[in-house]
Amino acid sequence: MKESDILATKDQLRFIEESSELLKKNEERSGKKLTASVITFGCQMNARDSEKLAGILVSAGFELLEDTEDADFVLYNTCTVRDNANQKLYGHLGEALFRKKKNPEMMVAVCGCLPQEPSAFEKLKKSYSFVDLIFGTHNLYAFPEYLNRLLSGERHIYEITDHSDSIVEDLPVLRKYPFKSGVNIMFGCNNFCTYCIVPHVRGRERSRESADILDEIRRLAGSGVREVMLLGQNVNSYGNGIEGEISFPELLKRVCDIDGIERVRFMTSHPKDLSEELIQTIKADTKICRHLHLPLQSGSTRVLKEMNRRYTKEQYMDLALHIKDEIPDIALTTDIMVGFPGETPADVDDTIDVINTVKYDNAFTFIYSKRMGTPAAVREDQVPPDLVKESFDRVLKCVQDTAREQSLRWQGQTLPALVEDVNESLEGYVTGRLSNNMIVHFPGPASLIGDIVPVKLEECRGFYYMGSR
Ligand code: 5AD
Ligand code: SF4
Repeated sequence: MKESDILATKDQLRFIEESSELLKKNEERSGKKLTASVITFGCQMNARDSEKLAGILVSAGFELLEDTEDADFVLYNTCTVRDNANQKLYGHLGEALFRKKKNPEMMVAVCGCLPQEPSAFEKLKKSYSFVDLIFGTHNLYAFPEYLNRLLSGERHIYEITDHSDSIVEDLPVLRKYPFKSGVNIMFGCNNFCTYCIVPHVRGRERSRESADILDEIRRLAGSGVREVMLLGQNVNSYGNGIEGEISFPELLKRVCDIDGIERVRFMTSHPKDLSEELIQTIKADTKICRHLHLPLQSGSTRVLKEMNRRYTKEQYMDLALHIKDEIPDIALTTDIMVGFPGETPADVDDTIDVINTVKYDNAFTFIYSKRMGTPAAVREDQVPPDLVKESFDRVLKCVQDTAREQSLRWQGQTLPALVEDVNESLEGYVTGRLSNNMIVHFPGPASLIGDIVPVKLEECRGFYYMGSR
């Protein structure tokens, strides 16, 4: 860690202590503990950020609630990758306003990707002026300071910057699961796919130092974590820009060597950067989960070029089939976008051809959403909604048919599952996750949570299994 980052961490820890004093005084006055709730939208990165935000709130002395209903402080950690994420937040803010009218003491905060987008930030300030605190992705680490100002009575705290100069380590974290954890290995993205707002709201790529990552994972393992997911927008370019830093495959190997870590996952891989070294590393160590998320976006070489994806249909298919050849028990999943400007039915045929050839175990299909400030948003050849709908339905049907067929290939096998939860809807059942990321429900006691147990996959129900021990 850089000297300046160590100092920044110390400052933030001091702010947590000061907030804790303020909360204690408040509790003495009112006779009750203040409650807080963190609502998360979007990807795994945001989920991990929310664990950090929740950790700070609890360290300061808030009681954390699942629900926003009775919370004195509500924090929305937002996403803006597609417009429906923005609309979802505005819906939630409408409800928050309703509750704030009944309880004017209630505090509302918005952070994360959405306010990094200038027009969304303006809209928040103008139309949602009851929001007391807004901060972005680059200064998430300074949340203790903002919280302190809020608890001292300051309102309309707006803190957005357009870059990060530090990576602050070692602030408190409240993990959702005691036995598994996400671990950031890098932040931001340099790829600038022409539809994507992520590089604009999360900034340029910055890798954490491997020594810090490995220390964090050793500590996690020491506290009972058995599965880690290494998180980055493009993990295959890990280490770029840090002189002498190890490669991503080497980092994976070192994580696997840590005592107590039994499973390692990672997310996300850009196909253009996926190396043979990585494939051989996964193949060689079964601690590395048999799941690879390899976003396709489109199967048309022309559309891929316009998206700035930097691979062709053929290169992608060769890579995916090679991975399946080398590691036959790997599950491949993907992201596919439909309705990118200029996309024709023939382009969609190409996408369908890739799906039929690669045969994904699962695929997330998205309708293209115009994001302000990206090159694709200003193109005049936006696809009419009825054609998008028709294409989307075609792609979705193909994905579902092939994924169903793929899921069946595990039928009858006995595979290790990490038990994550009791099953809410089936009494006496627990839910586990296989190395290939599939879910299996099977009869078992809650005491199995956190254990890795062999489960026989009895019956495939589309995207999950019913199993037995
Ligand atoms: N519209 C629709 N989907 C998008 N994604 C990223 N940007 C957009 C957009 N503007 C999808 C991509 C990416 C996933 C996380 O979100 O498929 O892989
Ligand atoms: Fe967006 Fe492309 Fe970066 Fe993924 S790789 S975050 S799609 S710009």
